Amino acid sequence: QKKITIAIDGYSSTGKSTVAKQLASHLNYIYVDTGAMYRAVTLYALNNNIISETVFNKEKLINELDNIEITFKYNETKGFAEVLLNSINVEHQIRTLKVSNFVSPIATVSEIRKKLVSQQQRLGKDKGVVMDGRDIGTVVFPDADLKLFMTASAEERAQRRYKELIERGDAVNYEDIYNNVVERDLIDTTRKDSPLVKAKDAIEIDNSQLTLDGQFHTILQLVKDKL
Ligand code: C5P
Repeated sequence: QKKITIAIDGYSSTGKSTVAKQLASHLNYIYVDTGAMYRAVTLYALNNNIISETVFNKEKLINELDNIEITFKYNETKGFAEVLLNSINVEHQIRTLKVSNFVSPIATVSEIRKKLVSQQQRLGKDKGVVMDGRDIGTVVFPDADLKLFMTASAEERAQRRYKELIERGDAVNYEDIYNNVVERDLIDTTRKDSPLVKAKDAIEIDNSQLTLDGQFHTILQLVKDKL
């Protein structure tokens, strides 16, 4: 059967990764969470005092890029690939609000984007891939067979993210999550290099009112139309 490339872009916390994982497991495709890669670089920068509330030493981070190795390792139990930073599983650590608060400034740096985009292109070169992020349909795979652009209201998105973090035991408050979601969208849509924008040929899915199941079946039909 024909294998295609599925690009999923959209604002923060729109459920891109949820549907991407569902599709990848249903179609037996690989799933690449590109946000996790930017998050892993951010974790490296935080751990090495390259970024904090008061400093962002861009030059140092750029100089150390060759020391940052990001890989994925499939987790049988979870059914998706987890992210490793220099061979250490950081899947849990990269999802904190702290990392979320620093990731968008890090993702504005062209040298970082260049490195991650080329790795993403290598990961997806054989098709049979579902990749989610902010620039997949515009920059990473402008020729993707199916491009989706996910949206939902900021309140809905913040509410979902809040629930997720509370469920995993993080002490967070809704206001901080809401502010993070809005702030990241602003930085991601206004940066110079590869801003978040809907590709001309992307299909917009507003899932504010959709159930998970409803969303999955809507999107699966779009996939089937391409096969
Ligand atoms: O998808 P996720 O919310 O985990 O992404 C975290 C951040 O990484 C985004 O807010 C954005 O700043 C950056 N990102 C990006 N390009 C991508 C994926 C993520 O700039 N393809």
